[in-house]
Amino acid sequence: MALDKIEVRDLYRKRAKRYNISANLYYLIGFREAKYRKMAISQLALKPGDSVVELGCGTGLNFGYVLKHIGKTGQLIGVDLTDAMLQQAELKIESNGWQNVRLVQSDAATYSIPSNINGVFSSFALTLVPEYQTIIEQAWQSLDKGGRLVVLDFKKPETWPLWVAKLGVIMTNPFGVTLDLKDRKPWEVMKRYFQNVTVMDLYGGFVYIAVGEK
Ligand SMILES: C[S@@+](CC[C@H](N)C(=O)[O-])C[C@H]1O[C@@H](n2cnc3c(N)ncnc32)[C@H](O)[C@@H]1O
Repeated sequence: MALDKIEVRDLYRKRAKRYNISANLYYLIGFREAKYRKMAISQLALKPGDSVVELGCGTGLNFGYVLKHIGKTGQLIGVDLTDAMLQQAELKIESNGWQNVRLVQSDAATYSIPSNINGVFSSFALTLVPEYQTIIEQAWQSLDKGGRLVVLDFKKPETWPLWVAKLGVIMTNPFGVTLDLKDRKPWEVMKRYFQNVTVMDLYGGFVYIAVGEK
């Protein structure tokens, strides 16, 4: 059964200090995490000066890639439920001297995305939020015309039998993924609001990048 929000927060409180190292361990099984992040962020089609919200930003592993596109004049807001993950993100911001990244501790479901934003991004987080449909609608409302919502996340490939899906869950369970999350399909909801939604499969279809433009 899917974890509730307190369970998710407690899990990430425990994982926060080792999160970046444990995420890197997945390279051993061919999971090219950094490459997927860069690919997804390039799909935001950002330009210098743009403003971006990252939902479920965790320890800030995407910040450097986003900042490469928006430069010093852009603004990045990282939102996350878990204080301990944001503490790690804060250390990253301080050590890099980034002046234009702001952190907000909030449930993404209740966070009010500022209007006229140029990009909304979420990696390996949106499917963990039961109200992901509301978030997608809110992202659509807040984005400027031509702004994009990009989601990088896990999914169950249609062709996978249940036993393979269960193996996938074992692999991702340390990050709060449970089998019933396979029924959450953010890219389907994106198609209700955004035009030209594209879905790119990665890692044999177990990972995807969904892109919607307003
Ligand atoms: C697997 S981590 C991904 C972190 C980061 N996006 C990355 O790619 O490394 C999932 C993150 O989602 C956050 N999260 C889970 N549920 C959330 C919610 N309802 N609102 C905001 N953040 C949430 C967790 O605290 C955690 O930091």
